[in-house]
Amino acid sequence: MNILALLQQRFTPALTALVSDLPPLLAMIRPAQDAKFGDYQANFAMSLGKQLGKLPRDVATQVATGTKLDDFCNPPEVAGPGFINLKLRDDWLETQLNAAAHDERLCIAPTTKPRTFVIDYSSPNVAKPMHVGHIRSTVIGDALYRTLEFLGHKVISDNHLGDWGTQFGMIIYGYKHFVDREQFKLTPVPELSRLYRLVNKLVEYWEARAAVGKLLEKSQAALNAWMALEGAAPPADKAAAKKAGQDLAKSKSNTTDEFGNLRSTLGKICDVQNDTDMNKLAMAHRNIGEAVLAETAKLHEGDAENLKLWHEFLPNCRDEIQRVYKRLDIRFDHELGESFYHDRLAPVVEDFQKRGLAQDSQGAVCVFLDGFETPMIIRKKDGAFLYSTTDLATIAYRRETWNPDAILYVVDHRQSEHFEKLFAAAAKWGTEKVQLVHVKFGTVLGEDGKPYKTRSGDTVGLEGLLDEAVSQALTVVQENSPELSADEQRRVSETVGIGGLKYADLAHDRESDYKFSYKKMLQLNGDTATYLQYFYARCRSIFRKAETTPAAVLASGATITLGQPEERALAIQLLRFEEALAIVEADFRPHNLTVYLFDLAKTYAGFYDRCPVLKADTEAQKQSRLLLCDLTARTIATGLRLLGIGTEEKM
Ligand code: ARG
Repeated sequence: MNILALLQQRFTPALTALVSDLPPLLAMIRPAQDAKFGDYQANFAMSLGKQLGKLPRDVATQVATGTKLDDFCNPPEVAGPGFINLKLRDDWLETQLNAAAHDERLCIAPTTKPRTFVIDYSSPNVAKPMHVGHIRSTVIGDALYRTLEFLGHKVISDNHLGDWGTQFGMIIYGYKHFVDREQFKLTPVPELSRLYRLVNKLVEYWEARAAVGKLLEKSQAALNAWMALEGAAPPADKAAAKKAGQDLAKSKSNTTDEFGNLRSTLGKICDVQNDTDMNKLAMAHRNIGEAVLAETAKLHEGDAENLKLWHEFLPNCRDEIQRVYKRLDIRFDHELGESFYHDRLAPVVEDFQKRGLAQDSQGAVCVFLDGFETPMIIRKKDGAFLYSTTDLATIAYRRETWNPDAILYVVDHRQSEHFEKLFAAAAKWGTEKVQLVHVKFGTVLGEDGKPYKTRSGDTVGLEGLLDEAVSQALTVVQENSPELSADEQRRVSETVGIGGLKYADLAHDRESDYKFSYKKMLQLNGDTATYLQYFYARCRSIFRKAETTPAAVLASGATITLGQPEERALAIQLLRFEEALAIVEADFRPHNLTVYLFDLAKTYAGFYDRCPVLKADTEAQKQSRLLLCDLTARTIATGLRLLGIGTEEKM
């Protein structure tokens, strides 16, 4: 039951009779902030009064009397300047809850307007080990998949693997020059990772060598600019002083940035030079950057040797990521990587040219787009295709194959410009009927507020992260669930560790950055999966103590009756589950579901404090409260499941 949607639907006729622009008014119907104003409030009368030139209170009374609400609300009250306070009828609440108590889906009806969604998420570049940066896309995408599917939409997940890019040029080059054949035979994936890191380091070394002179000049220029500002004549007035102050601060921070760049570039150079073996390799592979590009180009042109190596590497790389997905309990309907689109790229460019949507510019093929300074390049001067070209081909393929209403791209916010251009180019190409959405997200930060790195400055590997979360969860479980066997504790700690990690990610609005902390994510008291998982297990243990089961209570014909205010508050919070899911659906933010679940647990705590369950006054009251416990437990478990997080019956 979506109470908010029901209220909006009921108010619509009376509002339609008065104005034409309904959505902003309907958005002013909200859950009441304070229970003394009822359960919900309609606050549109003030704005409506202004539009109509009438007293808001009169408008409120007119709309309230003209709206059918009595089948589920007490008579509405008009308060203050024109608020309409709404209180749900207790008997109606009871009917809804009793229906939910008997329904596996908690009476959440599948949508009457099903859409087809393609969700593009996770999408790692496979030759490198997965790292902390991949968590967000993977976890947010999976939560959206589960939620949209639960709501009755048709959802198709497609992992757009980076399996065709420069990283393969790197490992091909690495394989040809540095492979340890024994190691490769024994453990191919770590050997490929080693090759990737080695080649990458050498490429970066030579890039750093080439860049360092320019960076020094830029740093010097920035420093000069700063010094010049400091030496300038004193400002004439207050406004000038303010501006001078701002300029100085900007110049200082610019200088710091430039020197920071210079320093990290020098760091890359020293790293290699201070290591005799690496230094030797670097000297022997001076043109490694170009050579890597050449290997990639050969692969794309169908060179037999490179293609053979690629076919040998790819299954290993795929196995590697599948291991991580399995642990995260994530499956994809399709995994059509970039390589899948290789033969479709030239036709895309030709089609753009044929329709006059692309122009040649200095040898490259470009799509010029309104509102963008630079065009989107779809074929480089040397004939190579780009990330954008592949993405265009992918849109075309997805349309032909699944005819989706929407495609969601769950990708880092740093790719915003790419997607803005891609969507603009796709619109020119004629994809207006498909809603294309960049579901962007922020960065995972370390305790220091900078992107999360290991102490040595490397990116943090995803598997290591999972291991650590599970190992820290084991300590929590051992402390709090000493009654479990060692085996059970290990199993539970996997659910707690992985769940904690996922929840910590999902509990932040996806567009903001968040600080990664094992300690915080596994807290027993707080907005964590651990809290909700323990909470769920406690609800379950109440039934064991009562020596009954939810099914037995239901079969006995017991029903929920609301007496205490805390029972009523819990009832309303339970019925707001569907509202929370609707908000997740509206702009693809799973965070709204974590907010709801945490609120539900808090509301339940209030109920549990005031309303004894096992020691209730009467048997009927006990049964009713047991059913409320069961509904809460099932709502929490369902909510967590939609976030991809497991629960345990005992912990
Ligand atoms: N492989 C890309 C990366 O790691 C992400 C791909 C996202 N999906 C897409 N259709 N562009 O940055």
